[in-house]
Amino acid sequence: MDAITVHDLHFTYHESASVLNGVEFVIKKGETVALAGLSGSGKTTLTHIICGVIPQLIKGNISGKVHLFGEDVIGKTPAELAGKVALVFQNSDEQLICTTVEDELAFGPENLCIAPQEITSMIDAALKRYHLTELRHRDPAKLSGGQKRLVALAAVSMLTPKLIIFDEPLSGLDEDGRNLVAELLAELKEAGQTVMIVEHDLTAVTATIADRWLVLADGRIAAYENPQKLLKSRLLYDLELMFDD
Ligand SMILES: Nc1ncnc2c1ncn2[C@@H]1O[C@H](COP(=O)(O)OP(=O)(O)OP(=O)(O)O)[C@@H](O)[C@H]1O
Ligand SMILES: [Mg+2]
Repeated sequence: MDAITVHDLHFTYHESASVLNGVEFVIKKGETVALAGLSGSGKTTLTHIICGVIPQLIKGNISGKVHLFGEDVIGKTPAELAGKVALVFQNSDEQLICTTVEDELAFGPENLCIAPQEITSMIDAALKRYHLTELRHRDPAKLSGGQKRLVALAAVSMLTPKLIIFDEPLSGLDEDGRNLVAELLAELKEAGQTVMIVEHDLTAVTATIADRWLVLADGRIAAYENPQKLLKSRLLYDLELMFDD
């Protein structure tokens, strides 16, 4: 079964020009796919549609089809889609709301009324998997950028989403943080997790992690290739020059 199929997707925020204008692509189960595109090309908008944030919480005019593991997504709430997809925000500070790492991980399962004992063992497993055991009682706000991103990932993973989307997972991190997150992405890929990475820096480590790249331009997917092939293309060369700051 395909992880995501998007067919003829159009989206316009109210009172703005159209953002997505006929987006088509498929991501297979177990693939790691990077989504590139210039600032304002609609990458975050697309991730919000896949997670149900649009049109449930942020409104606009939408048409077309989006299926996640066979389920029609448009019109479902983020909570209804929680087991299927999770989004790791670009800015971890906007995602982390609790005062200890442990509470942060408990937040999702508690909202689903999972038994406390079960939650504790879920937390133990997640702390171990994401190398966070030592940080269990720390305040997420006081951790390094890389550690915060790992806590955000661990928190969204509590509900075992079949697809994890990272919006610019390396942005704002120092070299240690980037290495930490890149290692984690490689581990997720190894474990067969389906992952979508929104990425600006086309020469970043994600270029080698991704099986394929989607490039969003003029409201459509302009390319869908493996990174080696894409790196040779004029399109990516142009994008890269523009991203190079
Ligand atoms: N809530 C909103 N209401 C109206 N317009 C919006 C809203 N969010 C984004 N836009 C507009 O939609 C377009 C696409 O924005 P989006 O954030 O999806 O792009 P992006 O590719 O993620 O950009 P970046 O690389 O800067 O994060 C932009 O023109 C943006 O100004
Ligand atoms: Mg964005």
